[in-house]
Amino acid sequence: MRRADDLPSRRTFLGATALAAGLAAACEPRAAQPGAGAAAVPATGTHQAGVTLPREAQRNLLAVVADVADGTAVGPLLAELGEAIRALTAGTDARLLGLRPDDLTVTVGVGPRLVSAVDPALPGATDLPPFRHERIDPRARGGDLLLQVCAGDPVALSVVAAALLGRAGDRVRERWRQSGRRGATVPVDRGLTAPRNVFGFVDGVVGPHAEEQQRRDLWLAGPAPVAGGAVAVLRRMELDLARFAALPRADQEAVFGRRRDDGAPLSGGDIATDPDLGAKTPDGRYLIPAGAHLRRAHSTAAGVGLMLRRSYSFDDPAPGLLFIAFQNDLATFTKTLTRMENGDALLPFTTTTASATFLVLPGFDERRPLGATLFH
Ligand code: HEM
Repeated sequence: MRRADDLPSRRTFLGATALAAGLAAACEPRAAQPGAGAAAVPATGTHQAGVTLPREAQRNLLAVVADVADGTAVGPLLAELGEAIRALTAGTDARLLGLRPDDLTVTVGVGPRLVSAVDPALPGATDLPPFRHERIDPRARGGDLLLQVCAGDPVALSVVAAALLGRAGDRVRERWRQSGRRGATVPVDRGLTAPRNVFGFVDGVVGPHAEEQQRRDLWLAGPAPVAGGAVAVLRRMELDLARFAALPRADQEAVFGRRRDDGAPLSGGDIATDPDLGAKTPDGRYLIPAGAHLRRAHSTAAGVGLMLRRSYSFDDPAPGLLFIAFQNDLATFTKTLTRMENGDALLPFTTTTASATFLVLPGFDERRPLGATLFH
């Protein structure tokens, strides 16, 4: 349980992070040039790419969820996928068919069945419970392997996914996939940007954007086999755009607890201002209504850490949001959604049609193959 006064102001963190981002940019191996693609993102390191890096998520995503065939040696499979990811992101893999990798990232996660076979006490070993507002085909619930492919170039996504699935061969069987895109971003504060979702609201403002918050709430510090990893939650949500768009703007803003135009919380300030959940009108009504998403999903109100949301919009078969969140404790997600089920005005506009959680494997490099700390 964390008290609100334990949390330093987000503005302070954003400033510190902007500075860190500036320093990191100075050491970037390949800088973006006019006419050239976006800067490369290193695939190797303490953490996998595609969670906090690149800092502004790429415009396009393809998430592929697959099962791993019984009897498969998981360690060698992951090590091979890691090698393929290094070659694909370096642009040295022939299966890229000559496409430029640019800012390509691939993030690999393993599902609860595989993690619990190693040790049922590990983070990532527990599956998500069912929630309300779900209409999930059994094929779209859970899964053993997540390949989250992100790039500025939308065409690269399916080529990269095919290369990785080809490498895995009959050791994996695809369950479901979802592509998504992010629109133009809005500056939030120095260095941090966030896109609008299909309801028109800026999405991705609050989260562990500063390094200190990431150490505390995002990355797993241990036990050793998972240190440097994280817990991912993916929820494909179809949104009732027609019903939401028909609401007067003030009612739309009451659903989220923010202003649509500039993203400022209804308690005042600008987009980077922390929402004041206690602020009231002179006649005693909450400025951020009781059912506002911002209030129901607020971390201190739910008594959990911050989750890093990196969601993507889609429009097939209906407009929606592929909600993607990273955190170091599954309870951050489950407690938040449980609290949202108790009166979040946004939830009745959503129908969840796919749901899964994965352990995002710790980072890897030439000497430490992907998955090696967990699967020998
Ligand atoms: C699984 C369901 C969801 C969870 C767990 C969730 C979680 C969160 C959290 C933790 C926040 C930050 C609240 C705060 O601390 O102030 C937030 C804010 C927000 N969410 Fe969600 N959300 C969910 C679904 C959605 C959906 C379906 C949409 C869009 C249609 C959405 C759009 C937003 C927006 C616009 C904000 C405010 C701006 C921001 O902080 O990014 N969320 N959500």
